[in-house]
Amino acid sequence: MITTTSLNLDTPLTIGGIELRNRFIMAPMQQYKGSPEGYATEHHVQHYSRRAKGIGLMIVESTAVSDNGRLWPNDIGIYSDRHTEMLKRVTDAVHTRDTPIFVQLSHGGRKSAPEVTDRLIAPSAIPYDESYGKPAELSISEIEALIEDYRMAARRSIMAGFDGIEVHAAHGFLIHQFLSPISNLRNDAYGGTRLGRMKFLKDTLAAIRSETGRNYPVIVRISSTDYIDGGLNPQEHAMILKSLEADGRPA
Ligand SMILES: Cc1cc2nc3c(=O)[nH]c(=O)nc-3n(C[C@H](O)[C@H](O)[C@H](O)COP(=O)(O)O)c2cc1C
Repeated sequence: MITTTSLNLDTPLTIGGIELRNRFIMAPMQQYKGSPEGYATEHHVQHYSRRAKGIGLMIVESTAVSDNGRLWPNDIGIYSDRHTEMLKRVTDAVHTRDTPIFVQLSHGGRKSAPEVTDRLIAPSAIPYDESYGKPAELSISEIEALIEDYRMAARRSIMAGFDGIEVHAAHGFLIHQFLSPISNLRNDAYGGTRLGRMKFLKDTLAAIRSETGRNYPVIVRISSTDYIDGGLNPQEHAMILKSLEADGRPA
């Protein structure tokens, strides 16, 4: 839950249990500088700490929850304990500026980088375009394994010293693919009605919360609209977010 006191950019803002000193938030932006294994590098330590001075919140770029979910071949990930070592150096460096830092957890689904993806997966077997190719429709056990990846990523986010998590549910990546009636044609519990299309995100948030507890900040990034007839629009997204917010209120 976000509590506002005024609309001025230089006034504090509370997100979950954290007070930001102002509303200048650095948006997640991929650096394309991860190692082949998806580790953050010295570049990330320098890049984020240099930009952290004086801002209210730093959000680290898209960070993959599984090796098959990187959006770009040289994206960073958080899919093993070793990934947390360099990420801890990033959070330590940003904390020297007295600035909180969140990680953006992501999975590309049918838009995962073909160069580093063994098995392209999606809610339904509909290709994004020819360059990515046709994804396999996720089985229920594969969906459960992905939710477990998010749970482990949340545990590692805390180990790495992040002050909060942003769940990437935007830009046509995996969670957006589940939410949208354009890319989700499933007729089981994870598709069909709005509630069904939301289930993957709801289950993912519950798995993350099982690691973080209710007072740790967990935010969700959405795209608001699919810009296509029959796709998601701001009204439907607002209904989705209202329902998620009711689930996620701090204790
Ligand atoms: C090089 C580059 C990398 C980006 N990487 C990410 C990312 O990792 N995650 C994300 O949600 N958005 C990413 N974005 C989108 C930005 O966060 C931002 O929304 C976009 O630049 C538009 O800025 P605006 O929202 O201030 O108009 C990226 C944008 C650029 C230009």
